Amino acid sequence: MRKILVHKVKEGMVLARTLHSNDGNTLLNSGIILKNSYIMKFKDLGIRELYVEDEISHDIVLNDIISEETRFEARINIKNAMDSIRYGSSLDVMPVRNSVCKMIDELMDVSDTIVNLQDIKSNDQYTFSHSVNVCVLSLITGISMKYDEEKLRELGIGAMLHDVGKTKIPSEILNKPGSLTEEEFEIIKKHTSYGYGLLKKSTELSTYASYIALTHHERFDGGGYPLGLKGEEIHEFARIVSIADVYDAITSDRVYKRRVNINEAVEYLIGMGDHQFDYNIVRNFIEHVTIYPPGTCVLLNDGEKAIVVDVNKRYPNRPIIRILADREGQMSKEPVEIDLTKNNTLLISEIIEDI
Ligand SMILES: [Fe+2]
Repeated sequence: MRKILVHKVKEGMVLARTLHSNDGNTLLNSGIILKNSYIMKFKDLGIRELYVEDEISHDIVLNDIISEETRFEARINIKNAMDSIRYGSSLDVMPVRNSVCKMIDELMDVSDTIVNLQDIKSNDQYTFSHSVNVCVLSLITGISMKYDEEKLRELGIGAMLHDVGKTKIPSEILNKPGSLTEEEFEIIKKHTSYGYGLLKKSTELSTYASYIALTHHERFDGGGYPLGLKGEEIHEFARIVSIADVYDAITSDRVYKRRVNINEAVEYLIGMGDHQFDYNIVRNFIEHVTIYPPGTCVLLNDGEKAIVVDVNKRYPNRPIIRILADREGQMSKEPVEIDLTKNNTLLISEIIEDI
């Protein structure tokens, strides 16, 4: 299985993960053979990428760290929570809490929490998918910092709800293509205090959730907003959520920008560690992120093209790859697999869209 841009999908490829619409209906079941008419429809629906199984990826396993069902349910629960706030009803925390508990159970079950959060986000459900991803990433970081279940629950609920204040920001500003004016940015910044106000009212939530909503844009060096807090003045929960938030935001496509690759995002976090972020937490975080998830197409330093088949957990830069094309672009008839931990001369130069 691999993730592929819709314009690269070819008739005959097999859909590897079920496609859902925003309201929760199934658009197309996994296992279906893709026809040109479907591919055209994906483009109409604004779907940019999907998971397929094709000749070069049929034996590549790509496991998500939480089940598809839990992820899907969590996305619906945060959507409902945010919709009810948007339409003036009170927030029902229970479904969100239940989703967080399910995620914790599943994450505690896997001994080896290497994240492959290759989730697909469309624009109109970005905030919901983002909230779920920030929650999963924060929980994994919390687990690696030896948090007990109660702390994980508090962290997870706050992470899921960190952006609820965005329900009060006009969507024209939130989804504006192109750069924001200074006034517009000032309006966006207010989602932190709006979120604080909304969550503080809830009797079902502890103060952590509202605190995380208020302070997830504070930065370790004091350069964040809205309060300009510094270092350990920012609660550890918010320091974790801020890293998960930035990581997921920069690795996602948005209307106003293309995403960066995971390896670049990890480099950015390391570079910003101890400036914008708490370096100790960054270290815990990046230990659990797959830089080159299976199914990623890469260019090697000798000009050959390959697909990542599996990860080497201790050496994230050196996965197991399968060479698919030589430096002239000629496809290999019998692809060779190479474990990059056992080959000192070959390096991955960059991630490429396709072979
Ligand atoms: Fe935010």
